[in-house]
Amino acid sequence: MSDLVSVALGERSYDIHIGSGVLQNSGKLIASLVNGSGTALPIVTDENVAKLHYKTLADSLTGFGFSPMPIVLPPGEKTKSFSHLQNLLERLLALEIERGGIIVAFGGGVIGDLAGFAAGILKRGVAYAQIPTTLLAQVDSSVGGKTAIDTKHGKNLVGVFHQPRIVIADISVLKTLPARERLSGYAEIAKYGLLGDAEFFHWLEDHAQQALAGDEAAITRSVVHSCKMKASIVVRDEREAGERALLNLGHTFAHALEAALGYSDSISHGEAVALGCVLAFELSAKLGHCTAEDAARVERHFAALGFKTRRSQIDGPRPSADELLGHIRHDKKTQGGRMTFVLTKGIGKAFVARDVEENVVKGLLSKD
Ligand SMILES: NC(=O)c1ccc[n+]([C@@H]2O[C@H](COP(=O)([O-])OP(=O)(O)OC[C@H]3O[C@@H](n4cnc5c(N)ncnc54)[C@H](O)[C@@H]3O)[C@@H](O)[C@H]2O)c1
Ligand SMILES: [Zn+2]
Repeated sequence: MSDLVSVALGERSYDIHIGSGVLQNSGKLIASLVNGSGTALPIVTDENVAKLHYKTLADSLTGFGFSPMPIVLPPGEKTKSFSHLQNLLERLLALEIERGGIIVAFGGGVIGDLAGFAAGILKRGVAYAQIPTTLLAQVDSSVGGKTAIDTKHGKNLVGVFHQPRIVIADISVLKTLPARERLSGYAEIAKYGLLGDAEFFHWLEDHAQQALAGDEAAITRSVVHSCKMKASIVVRDEREAGERALLNLGHTFAHALEAALGYSDSISHGEAVALGCVLAFELSAKLGHCTAEDAARVERHFAALGFKTRRSQIDGPRPSADELLGHIRHDKKTQGGRMTFVLTKGIGKAFVARDVEENVVKGLLSKD
């Protein structure tokens, strides 16, 4: 049994296949897109994913006549670099990938972003399949076609929009995901409810514990609903001219926190997003856009799941308000010198604000 979510983008349309065990159908699903029998099929992955799940994927692909060629990279954000991109492109070229071929990105958001970017620029663009193996990648990074690497100037600053031809999200591979990674991915799920669907957030208030404890029905529903929401936003605004920016709820603060803490282990992206959502609701309440009760409800939800919802709970030296503001000013979403925030009129009612006064933000960040 698998669920299907379609991303309707005209000739760039594709389906997201979600379910427990869909990885075993990868051969059949990819064979329906390209005639690959006999040709080399590059599988870009990382060491952790390769060890745990490569065999399942490879068996399914060989069953449909493909010759999978693993390209195994080191795990971690550092792999999203110019040097790994160059190395990957050379290895793909050595496999003599044709323009009609397809590349498989098999891993978390790091692998998806890097392999997707490589596919986007190799021979001016070849097809790729996303097989996301982290919760974050299943609900967020594998859908929507944003690809990128990091540079010394910041994260995700060099990349292209390049939509995958298919996304295959197997819920069962999440069983091997470390608990902290699962929690981190969950923040993006809650984000969808908070930005545009109060009913979904309400459902999460009752079912998130279950989903995080490994209940397949609860995880599947969370992933399917998140993908539907992301797909519908991407379809309306593929290149982030407007509405897609709502997906950045909590992210202006999150990126500032991550940067101020040097992208260290003391906070993961999802942990920063949860804290960022709490701050976005607090700022909205402070500006009179939403009630203090809504802001408190968001904080209660994240705290109950074990997220840090106050900066004072983060290990290590606490970044100052000025330091955080410095990073916010440099955020790539800053336009015409004005800071851009996603604010909210209540749970499920996010909007983009470009008129927030810096001193109000500073006041908020000066608290704990
Ligand atoms: N393109 C987009 O739209 C978009 C959106 C959000 C985030 N991102 C990017 O995604 C990246 C983060 O992705 P991530 O959180 O998936 O991190 P990740 O890819 O680094 O994976 C996290 C860790 O989990 C391991 N792992 C992956 N699958 C596993 C499994 N099934 N079992 C056990 N271990 C497994 C990986 O080896 C890694 O150590 C960031 O670089 C971020 O910029 C991109
Ligand atoms: Zn995010």
